[in-house]
Amino acid sequence: MPRAAFAALGSFVPDRVVTNDELTRHMETSDAWIQERTGIKERRWVREGTENSDLALEASRRALARAGWEAKDVEAIIYASLSPDHMFPGDGCFLNAKLGVPGVPALDIRNQCSGFVYGLSIADAWIRAGVYRRVLLVGSEIHSTGLDVSTRGRDTAVIFGDGASAALLEATEEPGRGVLEVELHADGRSARDLFCDAPGSMYHPRVQAAMIEAGSIYPRMEGQKVFKNAIVRMPEVVRGLLSRNGLTTRDLKLLVPHQANLRISQMVQRSLELSDDQVWNNIQKYGNTTAASIPLALEEGVEARGVKRGDLVALAAFGAGFTWAGALLRW
Ligand code: ACO
Repeated sequence: MPRAAFAALGSFVPDRVVTNDELTRHMETSDAWIQERTGIKERRWVREGTENSDLALEASRRALARAGWEAKDVEAIIYASLSPDHMFPGDGCFLNAKLGVPGVPALDIRNQCSGFVYGLSIADAWIRAGVYRRVLLVGSEIHSTGLDVSTRGRDTAVIFGDGASAALLEATEEPGRGVLEVELHADGRSARDLFCDAPGSMYHPRVQAAMIEAGSIYPRMEGQKVFKNAIVRMPEVVRGLLSRNGLTTRDLKLLVPHQANLRISQMVQRSLELSDDQVWNNIQKYGNTTAASIPLALEEGVEARGVKRGDLVALAAFGAGFTWAGALLRW
């Protein structure tokens, strides 16, 4: 049975850097508070006119160039985003058009910060089943247009950033290479602990001026609950994957945790007793880019840590839903 292997990754972030100091012009916060609580120094925000699918297009082009593929080599697109350009259709179709691949199926998924790993499980299943051999999986987000940048929204506004990252997955029959296992979870009892209430089809009409005033169009988060769950669920999923595959944390060349908050990543690392060079974080530069965060960090981490063919890599995600997920792969 073939397995899904990463042929290439490509990332793209907007050129506009927004420092913590810049945020202090909009809200009562400070560089010291943001760095101490989240580790974030700066993030990227799009300029007006940039679409979510534009970020995804550029990330996809970079991945294609690196793999030596042409767009027409892609047999299916999976697009993970909680911040699509429109309510419908999903951005997979816009990316399909921008890449110039009419006819290629485009599946849109949400799954927030776990979106990339959820998407990986679909790509892996398609590839194992022989449905497709070459899949483009993208995580792309524009948070900046949907944040409350006043003091009211400061707990979330300082965390999120814009960016995209794309992975090209291909079937491999090479022994000891590719995705070994993906594990997915959700607990909808916490769906409203991290969510964006409006606009929504449950409201009549779904968009109302009062929603803007009340701030219900902005993300809302029970920060400490998210924190407490993330630091338990991510190590749990990695431990389960390793033990089912007869491996231990000592076998791991690299763990890429979802970049939610540097303190969360550090606690995950400590819980798994991993050394600094077994983990890669880049939230300091990009903030939390939700579905893009894992591939964005994976691309950098593979390069920085010298990950080679056959090395063991783990991914761990936790996000709104709550959803959480992990993947174990041989590079
Ligand atoms: N600047 C300054 N002060 C702030 C800010 C800010 N940006 N945001 C909140 N505060 C204030 C609060 O108003 C509060 O003030 P008060 O004591 O006068 O009421 C004080 O700081 C402490 O607030 P807490 O919410 O208790 O602070 P906490 O230590 O929990 O840190 C944080 C908040 C950083 C959001 C933390 O809860 C956290 O990291 N949670 C995890 C959330 C996360 O990572 N989300 C990412 C998105 S989801 C995901 O990717 C999984």
